[in-house]
Amino acid sequence: MGAGIAQVAAMAGHKVMVYDNNAGALQKAQQNLTATFAKLQEKGKISAEQYTTLLSQFTFGSELILLKDCGLIIEAIIEKPEIKKAVFAEVEKLVSPACVLASNTSSLSITSIAAACALPQRCMGLHFFNPAPLMALVEIIPAIQTDVNLIDEAKDLMTAWGKTPVITKDTPGFIVNRIARPYYGEAIRIYEEGIADMATIDWAMTELGGFKMGPFALMDYIGHDVNYVVTETVFTSFFYDPRYKPSFAQKRLLEAGWLGRKSGRGFYNYAADAIQPQPNKDNYLATNIVERIVALLINEAIEALHLNIATKQDLETAMTKGVNYPKGLLQWCDDWGADRVLAKLDGLYHAYHEDRYRASVLLRMLVASKKPAENN
Ligand SMILES: NC(=O)c1ccc[n+]([C@@H]2O[C@H](COP(=O)([O-])OP(=O)(O)OC[C@H]3O[C@@H](n4cnc5c(N)ncnc54)[C@H](O)[C@@H]3O)[C@@H](O)[C@H]2O)c1
Repeated sequence: MGAGIAQVAAMAGHKVMVYDNNAGALQKAQQNLTATFAKLQEKGKISAEQYTTLLSQFTFGSELILLKDCGLIIEAIIEKPEIKKAVFAEVEKLVSPACVLASNTSSLSITSIAAACALPQRCMGLHFFNPAPLMALVEIIPAIQTDVNLIDEAKDLMTAWGKTPVITKDTPGFIVNRIARPYYGEAIRIYEEGIADMATIDWAMTELGGFKMGPFALMDYIGHDVNYVVTETVFTSFFYDPRYKPSFAQKRLLEAGWLGRKSGRGFYNYAADAIQPQPNKDNYLATNIVERIVALLINEAIEALHLNIATKQDLETAMTKGVNYPKGLLQWCDDWGADRVLAKLDGLYHAYHEDRYRASVLLRMLVASKKPAENN
């Protein structure tokens, strides 16, 4: 991930210092970046001169002192709060007071990382999506200590880097990793209950729902070590709100080391001779699957709006650019009608008596006032 962000910064014209405390990882990053620029040149996207210039912009090293003259540091190291805080505290001893410290963390509180710094007002989250050179979205997350002037500066910088920035409150999962939880969690729930198998759920969500990848194929692609851990972190960080409860089906995959594509097996088996499960192309079943998952996604977006996690525009941008949803969830709410979404959620709530299906009060208010979610 760090190498991808470094590529984006270099292509925007910056000198880039790439630091990693693991020499092997550093070497791999250097090789990957060189290979990427070579490929871009081969495809005619950059000239031979640009190739040489780009490579000359980089310095690689495994000593922190390398970072001492940086104006912006984007940390993308291991997702362990104590390690991140220790590295930030060390970095701060080397850099100038004007240097901005950003974390690319997917799930940790930016406020808690900033609190480990002598100058917490210079800390913020800059959350890129993987692969950073291809994914447009960047979530800008000010901690409660962040200097407010930095928000606009970060926004301008990310725009100059060709990215689409959105601003979000420092709450678990920020925008995308919070709102997207039901895409995975509810799909697994449907599968665990035996309502449909994973091939059918994936087919329903792509064919009928219009999503680029079905939830099971996507979880296998992301890797269960990443996807399960984010789910668990979001769940515990939300004080165990049942809406974000992780599943045993996914936990067992992680325990077995069936991490998905990268390990050759996850929900699906990626062996060349594996027989892939075929979907049950039943339209009634597929409609029910899509309605159930999308209603929960819409509810998350409406609740995020209700709690001022981000503006409407940024909520829509985040889900369409960060995870390529076919349309914004507030727009989806208006297209379906808030009353239909609420009826679906209330139907589930009454059937299960589980808080996981509780509808946002804002959704109820939209139904009562007959106002659209996008333009209310
Ligand atoms: N992978 C993703 O899809 C993704 C997406 C968005 C954000 N992130 C976030 O980016 C960060 C990195 O994720 P990743 O998937 O690239 O992880 P990774 O494990 O692939 O890379 C982490 C790198 O950090 C290095 N490292 C570990 N401890 C270090 C230390 N003390 N000092 C210096 N370097 C150290 C490791 O050697 C490794 O090269 C995490 O915070 C993660 O939440 C990841």
